Amino acid sequence: MAAIAVIGAQWGDEAKGKVVHFLAGAAHLAVRFNGGANAGHTVEDAYGTARLHLVPAGALRPGCVGVIAHGVVVDPQVLDEELAELQQQGRPPVRFCLSSRAHLVLPHHRVWEELQGTAGRIGTTRRGIGPAYQERAARSGLRVGDLADMAEVRARLGEAQRNLRRWFGQPGFEVAEVAEQLARFYQAHRERIQDTRALVAAALDEGRTVLFEGAQGTLLDVDLGTYPFVTSSTTTVHGVGWGTGVATARLDRVVGVAKAYVTRVGEGPLPTELRDGAGDHLQQRGREYGATTGRPRRCGWLDLPALRYACRVNEFTELVLTKLDVLGGLPEIKVCTAYRVGGRRVDEFPDRSAELATAEPVYESLPGWTADLRSARVPSQLPQAARDYLHFVEEAVGTEVSMVGVGPGEEEMVER
Ligand code: IMP
Repeated sequence: MAAIAVIGAQWGDEAKGKVVHFLAGAAHLAVRFNGGANAGHTVEDAYGTARLHLVPAGALRPGCVGVIAHGVVVDPQVLDEELAELQQQGRPPVRFCLSSRAHLVLPHHRVWEELQGTAGRIGTTRRGIGPAYQERAARSGLRVGDLADMAEVRARLGEAQRNLRRWFGQPGFEVAEVAEQLARFYQAHRERIQDTRALVAAALDEGRTVLFEGAQGTLLDVDLGTYPFVTSSTTTVHGVGWGTGVATARLDRVVGVAKAYVTRVGEGPLPTELRDGAGDHLQQRGREYGATTGRPRRCGWLDLPALRYACRVNEFTELVLTKLDVLGGLPEIKVCTAYRVGGRRVDEFPDRSAELATAEPVYESLPGWTADLRSARVPSQLPQAARDYLHFVEEAVGTEVSMVGVGPGEEEMVER
């Protein structure tokens, strides 16, 4: 029994879905607390490959119930499509509940995102995430619990449409059509809509194991990430309290998930970005394409000042390093140990993106390996160079690596 948070340590896409699925075998609840359908968690199991955007990855385990807590912005259409896809794969029905306080992502949010220009400027996932959180902060958003009152829903949709006309000169959507979709959604899910804060708190009081599944990663956090090239929610461990109403002080383990290299989708600084053969190797061997948008991910060498920063911000009790197998076959592996900014050495991750954008990586070079790691299950089955790589990372960030991903399959993990 434990309260465990799984948090992305980089720019998202760290293969958290696989780690969550692995840990959820022993969990009673799997709780999503931030983000929305911008997230793409991939799980490969006996039923095939599931690409999840809103359904908590842990909920694919029998015995584990998914919770979509209030920090998540819920696109009803995407959620229903996702449930239908899981059903088509022959899976048993997913058990989950939905916070009455969670805000809805509605068609006008996507329209608004395009028209206000953020989609292009930041390279967003175009899922209406920013505008949904904007309306939440402006106190004009619609929450899941509001669906109990359809007259109110229609009035609020009408207001959203009037705003679209006023600001951008177009209606953007059909009020009656959207209201009808929302009424259907409410009818289908009304039993699942509840005060998830109370549910999660009660599970912890009973001593059950609860897994909190972070979406995106530390460097995309709206405050602590590379602003403005970030998402609109709290992606760090602090999002557990923010997005569930359960205090982070209740966590027993904070598991940071980092890739053995870095990737980023969308705009914004990425000091170790590669534009050579090594970058192509990482992209192809790591199948680095966005799970939500299909965009190729930008790839680079592991950035230790950034990872150290994530360890401090989240106080990770342990790290999981994923996709170590992807580094196999490279004659040398570089790691960024510091930056050079304006001619001086900088060891800390800068707090301003403008400074990070000018940072030149200072590299150390480590030997590569050729052996295929995918069959390794215990550390002694890893080649010496791979073990040395892990030690180098642990020393540099001061946090132990407890598990290592060596392939996409659920069993392809080395526990240390
Ligand atoms: P938004 O979350 O769609 O507003 O996009 C803001 C930024 O976060 C963009 O750079 C996106 O590419 C990035 N982003 C959002 N969700 C994810 C994710 O799950 N993985 C990786 N990047 C993401």
